[in-house]
Amino acid sequence: MSVVALVPAAGQGVRLGGGRPKAFVELLGRTLLDRAVAGLKASGVVDTVVVMAPPDLLVEARREAPGAVVVTGGAERTDSVRCGLEAAGAVDGDLVLVHDAARPLTPVGVIAGVVEALRGGATAVIPVLPVVDTVKRVDGTRVLETVDRTDLRAVQTPQGFVARVLLDAYAVAEGAATDDAGLVERAGGTVTVVPGDARALKITTPFDLAVARALLEGS
Ligand code: CTP
Ligand code: MG
Repeated sequence: MSVVALVPAAGQGVRLGGGRPKAFVELLGRTLLDRAVAGLKASGVVDTVVVMAPPDLLVEARREAPGAVVVTGGAERTDSVRCGLEAAGAVDGDLVLVHDAARPLTPVGVIAGVVEALRGGATAVIPVLPVVDTVKRVDGTRVLETVDRTDLRAVQTPQGFVARVLLDAYAVAEGAATDDAGLVERAGGTVTVVPGDARALKITTPFDLAVARALLEGS
């Protein structure tokens, strides 16, 4: 039972506006892609890494992720994961992690925790954090209701799956989804949660990059 990690890195990073696709933006001298892949390797629980990159940055991706299989991603994140799944050639009982290049500071403990839950019998696993803000549903400018946040969770990556479960979910998937576990849910599968970590934040905006820089400088 081998563990393959798929790393979506083919997005443009429009909201970050870093002048190049987000995975190739530097955070204190190392690209997000380099850091994300290094974290996966350092976890000690990943056997193979497959990176999905923009078509014009395959050479750079190979440089940033030495030893990884690098393939071209697709138009949407879902398309990129599909490309990675095809390249990975995972068989039924293998374990597949999907981990965004945009989460470069994910602690190794989160990665190991996801794999541990899979080895313990779960078939789909996601790291989550409690939602700390009060959450309201709105209709344009008018508040409709305050949502009970007790059982709400914010979801991170890596998300982990028994290969067959993710392959089957993608085989029946229609349209795009914001995360891979969502496709498994739609296909009727059971998704298990494990503790996430604030340091696994997703770099979306320049503010997030500044937070990540501050975290590294303070550590
Ligand atoms: N991603 C991908 N292929 C796409 C779109 C996104 O592999 N077609 C990857 C991104 O590279 C990122 C992850 O999916 O690692 C999460 O996506 P997101 O944070 O939305 O990144 P971008 O799409 O690059 O950013 P933006 O939406 O601001 O353009
Ligand atoms: Mg995007």
